[in-house]
Amino acid sequence: MQNIILVTGAGKGIGRAIALAFAQAGRHNPDFDPLLILSSRTPADLESISLECRAEGAVTDTVAADIASMTDVKRLSDNVLKRYGTIDCLVNNAGVGRFKPLAEMTEDDYNHTMDTNLKGTFFLTQALFPAMERKRSGHIFFITSVAAEKAFKHSSLYCMSKFGQKGLVETMRLYARECNVRITEVLPGAVHTPMWGEVSENFQSLMMTPEDIAAPVVQAYLQPSRTTVEQIVLRPTGGDLQDS
Ligand SMILES: NC(=O)c1ccc[n+]([C@@H]2O[C@H](COP(=O)([O-])OP(=O)(O)OC[C@H]3O[C@@H](n4cnc5c(N)ncnc54)[C@H](OP(=O)(O)O)[C@@H]3O)[C@@H](O)[C@H]2O)c1
Repeated sequence: MQNIILVTGAGKGIGRAIALAFAQAGRHNPDFDPLLILSSRTPADLESISLECRAEGAVTDTVAADIASMTDVKRLSDNVLKRYGTIDCLVNNAGVGRFKPLAEMTEDDYNHTMDTNLKGTFFLTQALFPAMERKRSGHIFFITSVAAEKAFKHSSLYCMSKFGQKGLVETMRLYARECNVRITEVLPGAVHTPMWGEVSENFQSLMMTPEDIAAPVVQAYLQPSRTTVEQIVLRPTGGDLQDS
């Protein structure tokens, strides 16, 4: 039976690696047949990750959507539910961050961060959870961050949004346990992705790779449905990059 999996932010970084890891798992596991719905705002990124996943034998679909837009969230969720009638796995990965001192944060930075990380994640989850609730199965991943539990000085708005996502994770657990749906929070430390912009080779050598995050996500999904991996915390072995 096909597993209908939606990955947001699938065009770059961690989401891209998760999509590819699901596709590769399908190739190596005869009992796992992923149908990957890949979403982000940039169609060219979606086309290229879709081709990579298809090369691994996965069936793919792409939906360009901005989860900061309520219209797009509705279009994305309608697209999934009308085309496939259900969903097995939602990977809430799309996220943004602007990193600078507190005094330099603007209203635009606030809206940009909260509209994607909080509003988009909340309303997409709200739209798709009932399909899992009805069939009493499903799995929702939230890619939050170590910044959902720990403050970093240049990350005030990002930390607010990630602590906020954690509030949604914990609330969703209450609903999900009543209907056999699994909730996994993934808290990565520094991962070398486009989110960081240009980084020096030295800095890069201290970071994890997107594949380091993707592998345990797919392993958690492939656990027997009676078992939930509730939290995955992954840090660079040398610890967090900014500690003050
Ligand atoms: N990198 C890290 O060190 C790190 C650590 C902990 C947690 N995380 C979290 O991991 C997640 C992925 O981060 P990343 O590092 O992979 O970031 P990234 O390289 O910047 O990729 C983010 C992805 O999300 C998409 N996206 C951003 N805003 C969106 C929106 N409004 N609507 C739809 N798609 C959107 C981007 O594509 P488009 O721009 O084309 O839409 C892109 O595909 C985020 O939630 C981030 O907070 C990252």
